[in-house]
Amino acid sequence: MIKQAIIPLAGLGTRLLPLTSVFAKELLPINGKPGIEYILDECIEAGIKEVIFIISKKKIMIKNYFYNDNFYKKIIAKKKDSRIINEYKKILKYKKMIKFVYQNEPLGTGNAVLKAKKYIKDKYFLMLLPDDLIIKHNCSKSMIQIHNKYKSSVMASMSVNRKDVTRWGIYKLNKKIDKKNYFISDVIEKPSINKAPSNKAVIGRYILPKNIFSKLLKQKPGKSGEIHITDAIQSLIDENYKFIAHHFSGKYLDCGSMNGYIKSSLEISKI
Ligand code: G1P
Repeated sequence: MIKQAIIPLAGLGTRLLPLTSVFAKELLPINGKPGIEYILDECIEAGIKEVIFIISKKKIMIKNYFYNDNFYKKIIAKKKDSRIINEYKKILKYKKMIKFVYQNEPLGTGNAVLKAKKYIKDKYFLMLLPDDLIIKHNCSKSMIQIHNKYKSSVMASMSVNRKDVTRWGIYKLNKKIDKKNYFISDVIEKPSINKAPSNKAVIGRYILPKNIFSKLLKQKPGKSGEIHITDAIQSLIDENYKFIAHHFSGKYLDCGSMNGYIKSSLEISKI
């Protein structure tokens, strides 16, 4: 059973400037609700019981957001607004399930994952990248079902334009399991167009084995001097660990870019 999730939240959000100049991108409202709450709700609905947030000192406002329950209490004591009471209950529920760890230097997603090592109890855990919003279908829930069936790691996958492969981790697909699921034989972080083995991209949902920590501890910096989770995954594949690419249902929204962020509110308001 997958009961724990980790969410790297230390990113600076430069693609969303000026909105992120003093504000954490994950708290920006998407159709009236902070982006991070969509991610948390996806986790809860998928059966996750504990979420580890990897933040930085610069993004302490994320912790403050979930630790502001006394403020709600004072307001509710003065006026019994049912909407605020519901929001208060929601914040308390989230707060109970979140643990915070810190990544104060931007050394990449792999480095962020390592910071959560001491909290991970089970053989597998879920990781969600908060820029990647998937609506209309719970991608994590489907991935957990696949994991339970095949007892292997699972990563979300989506077809992208060939000219855009340099923006993503890209899979080399191996054996087809069914229409939506493939074992992969390689994954390459942001390859050049002529080195890309396919146009199937890694989207930010991963079910990873605990053993990834030992790989990350030895992992040398890759593209742009960062420690990439993709490179550690490739090391595991080289040792015959099974990884499945899951072509998810639902709609992908890239909330880390200005265009995607603006589009996300419009798309969600239509649901
Ligand atoms: C990260 C991963 C990349 C993946 C992408 C999905 O890249 O390193 O493999 O395809 O997330 O959003 P980033 O968005 O941090 O550049």
